[in-house]
Amino acid sequence: MGKKGFVFDLDGVIVDTAKYHYLAWKKLAGELGFVFTEEQNELFKGVSRKRCLEILLEIGNIKANQEQFDKWMKEKNEDYLAYIEKMGKSEILPDVPRVLSFLKNRNVKIALGSASKNARTILEKVELLPYFDSIVDGNDVSKAKPDPQVFLIAAKNLHVDPMDCVVFEDAVAGIQAANNAKMVSIGIGDSDILNEAKYNFNDFTEIGDDFLESLL
Ligand code: BG6
Ligand code: MG
Repeated sequence: MGKKGFVFDLDGVIVDTAKYHYLAWKKLAGELGFVFTEEQNELFKGVSRKRCLEILLEIGNIKANQEQFDKWMKEKNEDYLAYIEKMGKSEILPDVPRVLSFLKNRNVKIALGSASKNARTILEKVELLPYFDSIVDGNDVSKAKPDPQVFLIAAKNLHVDPMDCVVFEDAVAGIQAANNAKMVSIGIGDSDILNEAKYNFNDFTEIGDDFLESLL
C-alpha cells in the first residue's frame, strides 16, 4: 500500500529481447569456434554487455587483449542492433501497455531501470517512451544488479522514497537489486527461479487492476 513509484526492467519484462541478445552472442561464439547454448544464455540475463563477453570468453576458454575484446563487444552490439532496428509495437510483451496505462492514469511515477545501453532506442522503437518519467540505463550506472544503484537512481529521479517503489524484474540479480533497494520486488517469469521476489507472476496478463490498486 502507498506505493508511488513503479520501476520496470526492460529486457524480458517489457520486450522479449533476450532472444536477440542470444542470437548475437551465438553468432560471435560461432565465429570464435564454439557453441553457445540457450541454457548458457540464461546466465546473461540482467548482466552488462562487458560482463557477458567476459563470461562468453570463459565458456569458450578464449583469451583476448583489450583491442580484441572491444572489437567483439562492438560486433555483438552491431548484430544486436540490427535486430532491434526491425522491432515494432507488436513485440511489446502481453498486457504491458495496459499496466503502464493503468499506472499513468493513477498519477504514479514510472521509471525504467535497465542494464542495457540500448534502452532508449528500444523504447523508441516500440513507442513506449512517453510513459516514462525517468529512464535509468546502462549508461547511468557504475555498479551492476544485484547492486541496488540502478533502482535507487530511478527512485531519486522520480522524487519517491525507495520504500515507496515497486520493481518489475525477470532476472534473479534484478530481484536481488530491488530487495537490496528496499523496494517491493515483483518477479515476472518462473517463480522457482525468481523465488526471492515478494510477488510472482508468469507475465503481465496475470497482474490484474485490483492487484495494482492494492499497491497504491
Ligand atoms: C540487460 C539484459 O537488460 O541488458 C542483458 O538482460 C544485457 O542480457 C544487458 O547484456 C546489456 O544490454 P546492452 O543492450 O547494453 O548490450
Ligand atoms: Mg531483464
